[in-house]
Amino acid sequence: MTKDEADRILREHGQEHLLRFWDVISAEERAGLLEQISGIDFDTVEKMKKMLADKDKPAAAVQADMEAAPVSELDGEARDAAYRDGTFELRNGRVAALVVAGGQGTRLGFEGPKGCFAIGPISGESLFYFHARKLLALERRWGAPVPFYVMTSQSNDAATRKFFEDNSYFGLSKDNVFFFTQAMWPALDAAGRIILDAPGHIFMGPDGHGGTLSALKKSGALDDMVKRGIRSVYYFQVDNPMVDICDPAFIGYHIRNLSDISVKVCAKRDPNEGLGVVVTSGGKSRIVEYTELTPEQKNERRADGELRFKFGSVAIHVFSTDFLIREADAGLPMHIAHKKVPFVDEGGSVIKPASPNAFKFEKFIFDALADARTTVNLAFDRQQEFSPVKNADGSDSPETCRKDLSRKWAWWLESAGIVIPFDRYGYPLHSIEVDPCFADSPSAMKIAVEEGRANINPQGDILLKCAE
Ligand code: UTP
Repeated sequence: MTKDEADRILREHGQEHLLRFWDVISAEERAGLLEQISGIDFDTVEKMKKMLADKDKPAAAVQADMEAAPVSELDGEARDAAYRDGTFELRNGRVAALVVAGGQGTRLGFEGPKGCFAIGPISGESLFYFHARKLLALERRWGAPVPFYVMTSQSNDAATRKFFEDNSYFGLSKDNVFFFTQAMWPALDAAGRIILDAPGHIFMGPDGHGGTLSALKKSGALDDMVKRGIRSVYYFQVDNPMVDICDPAFIGYHIRNLSDISVKVCAKRDPNEGLGVVVTSGGKSRIVEYTELTPEQKNERRADGELRFKFGSVAIHVFSTDFLIREADAGLPMHIAHKKVPFVDEGGSVIKPASPNAFKFEKFIFDALADARTTVNLAFDRQQEFSPVKNADGSDSPETCRKDLSRKWAWWLESAGIVIPFDRYGYPLHSIEVDPCFADSPSAMKIAVEEGRANINPQGDILLKCAE
């Protein structure tokens, strides 16, 4: 793209301020800026401007017909049957794992991809380590690899790939790990103008986890899934090291119901926990963000004392590959958020604002539910599978997550007959960490203990690693 072409397009869309430092930026910066401008979809920017202009209009009330969605709990024979079907899929290599790791992790405030964050309570191993080792354990158990699709964004893609290289893919075969990058979108100021974060550079942020659908297609990851005969894709977020990746019962339940998207849900910790709740409205399943619920809706209770909207989604899904193919070109709706974005002032100095100054736009993966023919919601016990690393401290922080991990592994050891000392809050007195390749379930732990592979002193920290 030439400067004249850029000028014309920018004028058409009221964005000519992007070239205001043209005379003072270097030749390299000029080339970079033109490349950025040529990559922006200005039709989307027009939609963003419209959303921004309408942002103070009263939001469409959450539908009056909204009801809590049906949620299944699996036990007994139903669970066994689902488990059998799930293991059949795993044995036949028809399941892939997909982690969304393109976010910016601003609340955690960690420099670098969030997946590289050290979460192991003893070893300090990373979030990516625990995910990858679970996949390796699955491969060893079921005799077929689970291809791993890792969504990154332009800002963390190179660092993520390097981290996997530096760690020898945590034992996985490099051929079974597929990195793909989501799209980036500009942010707008209150007047609808795209923001420069340097005189020759436009601020760009990832387009939200809903960007997964188009990125899968664009990158060739979807074709790769089809080529490998993948039928179910196990989707999860990078910041939850408790996730039971490729839980066979969940996969089996998804398959048995011919579901397009299946959603794992858990009871909310309290009415104000920031989880989207699962509802039905207009005959469709939906996830309604907690910010969209009125205080009355959040707190409303049923006759039995339970919250009316009790079950929240923690972004653990199974997608059918057929649905991902059908949905790849769907234009998911955009959501708008007021955020802090660095910008250049009229003198060309970069300013880091102390309060929100910009509007960012994102797509959310769960909006795809509206296009699904069949969906199911399956309840799980959050103490076993969910403890995200969102904040630097307080709730959902590295500290709470490490404690929850230690407690989960303590329960596994207890169920294998080891006596573990706990404090009065129910957490083990000492840190515990288990490499998923050593044991990835209570039953695997029991076998390891019975075979004498677990050399344990319960009076101190316990680190169980797999002898490769
Ligand atoms: P969050 O919404 O918690 O965002 O993402 P975040 O980027 O991790 O953290 P904050 O909000 O900036 O503090 C949930 C999951 O979705 C992924 C994240 O990497 C995380 O696994 N995600 C989010 C993406 O992959 N891309 C995005 O554009 C946004």
